Amino acid sequence: MIDRRPLQKFTYGMYIVSAKDGDRMNGQLSNTVFQVASEPPIISVCVNRQNVTHGMIARSGRFSVSILDITAPMELISVFGFRHGGEYDKFNAVPYRMLVSGAPIVTLHTNGFVEARVMASVEAATHTVFLGEVVDSGVFNEEASMTYEHYRRVLKGFTPKSAPTFSPAHAWAKEPVAVSGPPSSQEA
Ligand SMILES: Cc1cc2nc3c(=O)[nH]c(=O)nc-3n(C[C@H](O)[C@H](O)[C@H](O)COP(=O)(O)O)c2cc1C
Repeated sequence: MIDRRPLQKFTYGMYIVSAKDGDRMNGQLSNTVFQVASEPPIISVCVNRQNVTHGMIARSGRFSVSILDITAPMELISVFGFRHGGEYDKFNAVPYRMLVSGAPIVTLHTNGFVEARVMASVEAATHTVFLGEVVDSGVFNEEASMTYEHYRRVLKGFTPKSAPTFSPAHAWAKEPVAVSGPPSSQEA
């Protein structure tokens, strides 16, 4: 029998992982971003294969990571964490900047960004782990980064089934706040 409680004690940050494919751009909330190697700098992201963002990263071979700061509101998290890019233009709702490669980064409630070129990927059941070599990066300000713990305990945030860290019996679960636009099929 697997006890999921220790998995809930892992620590994470809060990020918006984005990509551009042709003239379409999209992004998704992710807590599973981390640094893999230092020289050269390599990062990884873990993306559900059903997410719109997954196909965009796979096809374009690039992704960006916008690092959420502690001031990020539930409205912003809800747009990127509970909406499907196929039915909703997420970047219409937030200020953003395009990187040279074309991947967008969110510029409000974020303290920095990293852009990476996909160098390898690993299939892991429902998800793909993309490894990316860092090709561009920058810091916007010195605001503290938001943690997943802060999202769960302070903002009382909910984690959808599509996230790697979803737990079927999580005691703090709370519905996402309402955002404008059509309801997403992912809201559980
Ligand atoms: C706090 C939080 C963390 C999440 N972490 C991940 C993650 O690490 N990987 C993932 O694939 N989805 C994660 N998700 C779910 C995606 O953000 C969500 O499925 C999103 O709607 C996908 O958007 P897309 O279909 O437009 O790409 C997370 C959601 C939340 C709210």
